[in-house]
Amino acid sequence: MKIDSNDLIEKVLIDEESLNKKIRKLANTLNEHYADKDELILVCILKGSVMFVSELAKYLNVECKMEFMSVSSYADNTYSSGNVKILMDLDMDIKDKEVLIIEDIIDTGYTLKKVKENLLQRGPKDLKIITLLDKPERREVDLKSDWVGFKIPNEFVVGFGLDYNQLYRNLPYIGVVKRSVYEDIEEMK
Ligand code: IMP
Ligand code: MG
Repeated sequence: MKIDSNDLIEKVLIDEESLNKKIRKLANTLNEHYADKDELILVCILKGSVMFVSELAKYLNVECKMEFMSVSSYADNTYSSGNVKILMDLDMDIKDKEVLIIEDIIDTGYTLKKVKENLLQRGPKDLKIITLLDKPERREVDLKSDWVGFKIPNEFVVGFGLDYNQLYRNLPYIGVVKRSVYEDIEEMK
């Protein structure tokens, strides 16, 4: 079925060009930071970060390996349960490695806090975080990202990897979802 963006999207928050521009800028920052360091392990948090890591990695000029990890935080709605479960783990041992977690969005912070604690137990040489989007207003736990693409207001967004009920990850922009789409669900206040 064709996506009817008029019914779905309240407004485009970040258009395709702005995303690409920002991601290239982030890649340059990472290139500088990791230029003289050991090989980098990119830990992509599935599924939301797929578009971000794909675009970002194209502009990295440092040696890096791509690893994937799947964690569950939300069920099929727009609020965080605070329960985070590892559904799929890394293939690689990250002991003594330079590790960069790649996340789509930090909301309450529960997901990434759990992931960070888990990965730190494996003894990486260094562990940093980069997130495309950050909703600082919503933070419930103390968690900071080393690099942030865009700080966004407290609104539910989809596109460029981010979903609503597993849909709309394929939109090339970040858009705010119309409240009418999910108003039946108790969500962020
Ligand atoms: P946190 O544990 O509350 O920080 O939630 C982080 C995860 O929730 C992200 O990795 C996303 O998968 C999801 N999430 C948070 N806010 C949004 C949103 O506005 N749109 C889509 N997914 C979101
Ligand atoms: Mg995610």
